[in-house]
Amino acid sequence: MTCSILVGGAWGDEGKGKCITYLCEHDKPDIIARAGVGPNAGHSVEFNGEKYGLRLTPSGFVHTDAKLLIGAGVLVDPEVLFKEFEDLKKYNVSERTFVDPRAAIITDDHRVRDKGSEHLYKKIGSTGSGCGPANSDRVMRSIKLAKDVPELEDYLLDVSFAVNETLDNGEDVFIEGSQGFALSLYYGTYPFVTSKDTTASTFAADVGVGPTKVDEVINVFKAYITRVGEGPFPTEMSQDEAESKGLEEYGVVTGRRRRVGYFDMELAKESCRINGATQIALTCVDRLYPDCARTQSYSDLSPETKAFINEIEAETGVPVTIISTGPDLKDTIDLRSELL
Ligand code: GTP
Ligand code: IMP
Ligand code: MG
Repeated sequence: MTCSILVGGAWGDEGKGKCITYLCEHDKPDIIARAGVGPNAGHSVEFNGEKYGLRLTPSGFVHTDAKLLIGAGVLVDPEVLFKEFEDLKKYNVSERTFVDPRAAIITDDHRVRDKGSEHLYKKIGSTGSGCGPANSDRVMRSIKLAKDVPELEDYLLDVSFAVNETLDNGEDVFIEGSQGFALSLYYGTYPFVTSKDTTASTFAADVGVGPTKVDEVINVFKAYITRVGEGPFPTEMSQDEAESKGLEEYGVVTGRRRRVGYFDMELAKESCRINGATQIALTCVDRLYPDCARTQSYSDLSPETKAFINEIEAETGVPVTIISTGPDLKDTIDLRSELL
C-alpha cells in the first residue's frame, strides 16, 4: 500500500503532467485522484505521439485500469469536464471518472466575474477560469455543489471513502496536486497567488486522506523556473536572455508567454520543507543542458548536470529520484529503486 502525493515546487508548469503520466504508467496505482484548485491548471501530457492539455482530468489517465477521481476540494467546471471526456474518448475516461458530491461547481457567472475583475484578471493575472470567484462563493457558503447538478448524477462517488478503502485494502493511491508551492494562498507571493493553499497537506485534504496515511510526497521542479501572470520573481531573467537560451514557453490554459528565470535554491528549500517532500522530480533538464537530451541513464548525464543535481540534494536534503530529459515518457531516469 502506497499513498503518494505529487506537488508543484514553484509557480506551476513544472512539468507535473509528464511526471504524473510516467509514474502512473510505471507504478499502475489503483486510484488516481485529482487534488488542487480546479480548471485553472493546465497539465501537458505527451503519450503515444499525441499531446493533451488537461485542466481537470487526472494526467494519469493513460493508465487505463485506474479509477480517476476528483476530490471534494477541487472546483469542477462541468463544461471543461465533459469536453475532456470527449477529447479522451479512446481512453474510456468518462467510464472511470468520478467526482465527489461535495465538490463545488464553477458556473458562467464565476468566469464572467473572474475576467471582469480589475483586481483578479488585470492585477494578479488570473487565468480567468472562474476559480477565484468560485472559491470566494464557497467560503461565503453560497456555491452549488456537484450533488446539485443533474448532469453529474452518474459520476458521483464518495472520493474520500473510495481512497481510504483502497488504501485499507493494501492498494496504491496516487494524488495529483496542481499549481505550485509559490502560488499558495498561504505560503506564496501574496497577493499574486491562486485562491487556495497548494501544498501537500491541502492536497491530501482535497481528496479526504488524513496525514498519517501519506507515504510519499514528490516535489516537482523544472531545471529553470517559469511564472505566468504578475508578481515577484527573484531569479527572473530578461526575455532576450530566455530566448537566447531557448527557454521560451507559452501557457497551456491561457496561451500567455511565461516569464523565465534561474533555478531558485531558497525557494526549493522552503518548498521541500513546507510540503514535507520525500522525493524530488527534476524536469526539462535537457532544456538547460542540451547535451542531456533524451538521456535515459544517470551515468550518461554530463558532469555539470550531475553537479546541479547534487547541489539540489545537498541544499534541500531530499533525493532527486526522477530526472526528466525530454517530453516523452521514455526520456526519464528513474532512480527510485536505488535511492529509496
Ligand atoms: P503543470 O502545470 O505543473 O501541471 O505542468 P505542465 O505539465 O502543465 O507543464 P507545462 O504545461 O509547462 O508543460 C511542460 C511542457 O514541457 C510540455 O509540453 C511537456 O510535454 C514538456 N516536458 C515535460 N518534461 C519535459 C522534459 O523533461 N524535457 C522537455 N524538453 N520537455 C518536457
Ligand atoms: P487563478 O488561480 O486563475 O486565480 O490565477 C491566479 C494566479 O495563479 C495567476 O498568476 C495565474 O497565472 C496563476 N496560476 C493559476 N493556476 C496556475 C497553473 O496551473 N500554472 C501556472 N500558473 C497558475
Ligand atoms: Mg501547466
